[in-house]
Amino acid sequence: MISKILNIKNKKIKSPIICLTAYQKSVAKILDKYCDIILVGDSLANVLYEMKDTHKVSLEMMINHAQSVRKGVKNAILVVDMPKNSYKTPSMASKNALKIIKTAKCDAVKVESNNKNFHIIKHLVKSKIKVMGHIGYTPQFKKFKVVGKDNKEKNNLIKEALNIEKAGAFAIVLECINSSAAKIITNSLKIPTIGIGSSLNCDGQILVTDDILGLSGFKPKFVKKYLNLNKLIENAVKEYRNDIINKKFPKKKHSY
Ligand code: KIV
Repeated sequence: MISKILNIKNKKIKSPIICLTAYQKSVAKILDKYCDIILVGDSLANVLYEMKDTHKVSLEMMINHAQSVRKGVKNAILVVDMPKNSYKTPSMASKNALKIIKTAKCDAVKVESNNKNFHIIKHLVKSKIKVMGHIGYTPQFKKFKVVGKDNKEKNNLIKEALNIEKAGAFAIVLECINSSAAKIITNSLKIPTIGIGSSLNCDGQILVTDDILGLSGFKPKFVKKYLNLNKLIENAVKEYRNDIINKKFPKKKHSY
């Protein structure tokens, strides 16, 4: 049977790869019906924990959320972000990646590139760990900026992407990369590119689920909001409160 990872690699060019993030089972279960890849992203730092950045996310945080997400995922490829402090050396990286994979039973890990850590990806792949790369705006290493507008940045990104492919990654996230640079990168690689804020010139797209549902309140230019879940939750909670005040809940049918 063709492996799920090989299947994703084969999708390049042929059909768009659909990806979203999840931090818990109930959401993951719904995403699993429609997504090729579900990412337990370290964006949970900002979205769930109100941390100022992703730098202090621990391995335990990622494992706990990944274990919950795993329970909702049957079909999609489950990828978990390696937190910043978990892959300082090749041996540290493989020890921690294996811990994530064994305890959360995920399919692959994602490693953000700082243009110097290709040897980490290479070591992980050699240790039989499936790796997704991540270039462009990499929150573990950089302040927010759209990259790839000038030729120097464009060439650097192409080299970086090729190095990640050479290191053995099966796919690569392009975050906030100028659309013409994204096109060249996508056309230069054999592995699929997954864009976030990087235009249609990618083999697939990923967004943070809480952003598209209108739960996070975060709305940069590249996010399309499909729902105002904040408002829907607020309305439901208000109704619940009113029911209690007016003694409309619980009714007989809710009681023993
Ligand atoms: O942490 C995350 O959610 C991510 C995606 C936005 C690609 O890395």
